[in-house]
Amino acid sequence: MVLKTTGEIELMDEANRIVHEVLDGITERIEPGATTAELDRFAEAFIRGAGGVPAFLSYRGYPATLCTSINDVIVHGIPDETPLEAGDIIGVDCGVLYKGYYGDAARTYAVGDISQQARKLMDVTRKSLDLAIQVIEPGTRLSDIGHVVQSHVEEFGFSVVREFVGHGIGVALHEDPQVPNFGQPGRGPMLEAGMVLAIEPMVNAGEPGIKVDADGWTARTTDGALSAHFEFSVAVTESGQRILGRSQPAVA
Ligand code: MF3
Ligand code: CO
Repeated sequence: MVLKTTGEIELMDEANRIVHEVLDGITERIEPGATTAELDRFAEAFIRGAGGVPAFLSYRGYPATLCTSINDVIVHGIPDETPLEAGDIIGVDCGVLYKGYYGDAARTYAVGDISQQARKLMDVTRKSLDLAIQVIEPGTRLSDIGHVVQSHVEEFGFSVVREFVGHGIGVALHEDPQVPNFGQPGRGPMLEAGMVLAIEPMVNAGEPGIKVDADGWTARTTDGALSAHFEFSVAVTESGQRILGRSQPAVA
């Protein structure tokens, strides 16, 4: 596990700032009729205009800048010409490489009016991320993060995905350690100031399982139920934690 210097964390804050500017821009572009390919073109142009490089494009052969994951797609949906429809929920995941450092974040958006269940799923997933971030400080054990996520999610009858996990991030998109969204508390290494973790709960409304489409990427729920995903890159600091690319206070 590599510790980052204060200077490195500032560069990672800048990389994540670009990511969040993209995700803010997506908010304005989400509407019935918009295509995920349009969102992807916006994101790539914005990132390059800001002096960054899309981090997912060509990563293990991934063909786009964004992952756009609609309804029963959990993560890694590939942008295409299919129009968004009112009632959809869509997870948008964005990674940026900037001055040698990676930023990675995701949000789930509502398209027009959505069902109460879809709203609840989004709110519970977002809240599980906040609760996880609140326990991050030096001395917290790594597995406490997943424990907090799982406990919150299961309280509402939803389930956490096991097959994909959060991760360390820095000079690589994926660094050690893996950060599962489930588990017992009090296990694993202690967090230390200078660690940077991408925390990313993926929450299914129904069964926790996944299946991957023939494209090798698109990961869906096995039962066709909805899934939501939020992600922040978070630095462990002496006094607690800092969400990178976001204005402070850290949890807002
Ligand atoms: N946020 C995801 C992750 O950290 C997105 C990866 S998409 C990929 O794993 F295309 F880059 F694999
Ligand atoms: Co990630």
